[in-house]
Amino acid sequence: MRPSLRAAGTVGLLAGVINAVQIDFTNDDSIKEGASTVAFGLLKYYTGNNTGDVPGNLPDPYFWWEAGAMFGTMIDYWHYTGDETYNDVTTQAMLHQVGRDQDFMPENQTSTEGNDDQGFWAMAAMSAAENNFPNPPEDQPQWLALVQAVFNEYVTRWDEQKCGGGLRWQIFTFNNGFNYKNSISNGCFFNVASRLARYTGNQTYADWAEKVWDWMTETQLIDDEFNIYDGGGVEEECKNVNRAQWTYNAGIFLQGAAVMYNYTEGNDTWKQRLDGLLTRTTDYFFVDGIVIEHQCEPFGLCDVDQQTFKGYLMRWMASTQILAPYTADTIAPLIQTSAAGAAEQCSGSTGAPEFKGEAGTACGFQWTKKSDFDGLVGVGPQMSALSAIQYTLVKRAAGPVTADTGGTSVGNVNAGASYEDKVPQLAPITMGEKVAAGFMTTAVVFSVMGGSFFIMKE
Ligand SMILES: *[C@@H]1O[C@H](CO)[C@@H](O)[C@H](O)[C@H]1NC(C)=O
Ligand SMILES: *[C@@H]1O[C@H](CO)[C@@H](O)[C@H](O)[C@H]1NC(C)=O
Ligand SMILES: *[C@@H]1O[C@H](CO)[C@@H](O)[C@H](O)[C@H]1NC(C)=O
Ligand SMILES: *[C@@H]1O[C@H](CO)[C@@H](O)[C@H](O)[C@H]1NC(C)=O
Ligand SMILES: *[C@@H]1O[C@H](CO)[C@@H](O)[C@H](O)[C@H]1NC(C)=O
Repeated sequence: MRPSLRAAGTVGLLAGVINAVQIDFTNDDSIKEGASTVAFGLLKYYTGNNTGDVPGNLPDPYFWWEAGAMFGTMIDYWHYTGDETYNDVTTQAMLHQVGRDQDFMPENQTSTEGNDDQGFWAMAAMSAAENNFPNPPEDQPQWLALVQAVFNEYVTRWDEQKCGGGLRWQIFTFNNGFNYKNSISNGCFFNVASRLARYTGNQTYADWAEKVWDWMTETQLIDDEFNIYDGGGVEEECKNVNRAQWTYNAGIFLQGAAVMYNYTEGNDTWKQRLDGLLTRTTDYFFVDGIVIEHQCEPFGLCDVDQQTFKGYLMRWMASTQILAPYTADTIAPLIQTSAAGAAEQCSGSTGAPEFKGEAGTACGFQWTKKSDFDGLVGVGPQMSALSAIQYTLVKRAAGPVTADTGGTSVGNVNAGASYEDKVPQLAPITMGEKVAAGFMTTAVVFSVMGGSFFIMKE
């Protein structure tokens, strides 16, 4: 993920026309129909399946990781609605982005890729395994093995030299952000480790989940009141905690804790952690039952990345409700009020040039405004609204499978590659170029290698 860039486009507010996506939340067919309309609008932003374009990439200004998050959303969309329309495009995108080492580090992205970027693709593959999303052809990489590759690489990147452990934000030393250890990167590790433990039954994964949790609490990135803060700098031994709280950090640890609770068959320590996270999440992030991104939403300052976060909180709360059924009474009503607000915001008129879905159904971002369309549209608002809406369907859905309960994805405990293996591939491109060579040189170098990135991390 990148520091703030231009936010998505703004749609003119055409008065009078209130289309919106009308949903009766007591009726599953109505929810599915609404979800289908919003999903259609979302996938219209995607151009990776056009001739000459690259499968798996979203157009500017959306970064690569967001596409991974989008296909993760679409895997759940299929699971909860049964609509197969987007399965082929999803499989094509996922497989195109696996990269040489089958670990979601494709050449075009590797030099700027962070642990969190890789994690969002891995979590999409994990959802595919857990939902029994159609397996790729046998000669292609398999969902479970892809996640194991990312897990194995995370293990090699665990860094005890600074802050007593933890993953750094960035993978490579030459990227800014290498000196920052953040909650979302460690959240990705915690999340895939706990889910791999549950899916495979292999305790090694659970031990790593525990280790990440312990490190997060020791550094107070998760404090005693279960606030989750953004991260800390390695030069300060992570003591200079950046105290911004984001919905996706709350969600990623919430789901992981629910998975651990479920995997341990109701262990009381994990229940207390889960309860603490859930209470803090619902107290802090919900206003009148509707989720809000406090750091930026009230000021209209959420960037393209941040516009997606609320959707992941919906995703992970929904999963929590399945894995720890006693939380459903708390969670289900909050997803529903959020979804109702989101659906009312999906009333953008035809004025949005970049929106190619059904006229009058472009989703805005501030769900607390309900039918007062806020005009902020793009992949993030559209995907978040889809998430809130589709996750109201979980109440009757089957739980995620495991290898023992019908899961069919093939794994490989040895998947992944070493850092040393990757750096030489990158050497002529990035490390060889002195930082002093500056922005223009970097831009030229990137365009020479055919990558689409010329925006460097700040
Ligand atoms: C790409 O996929 C989208 C979503 O399924 C679809 O609307 C579009 O027609 C596809 N484009 C091509 C060229 O197949
Ligand atoms: C529950 O989990 C905690 C944390 O992993 C562990 O220390 C404890 O021994 C577990 N309790 C039981 C009864 O297994
Ligand atoms: C674990 O999740 C399943 C749903 O997949 C649920 O039926 C079961 O009750 C959960 N276990 C616990 C201890 O809550
Ligand atoms: C469990 O996972 C670890 C870590 O990847 C691996 O080394 C070990 O072989 C796995 N055990 C089994 C029985 O698959
Ligand atoms: C890398 O980018 C080039 C140029 O855009 C493209 O042709 C190629 O398909 C991309 N490779 C992958 C694996 O995405």
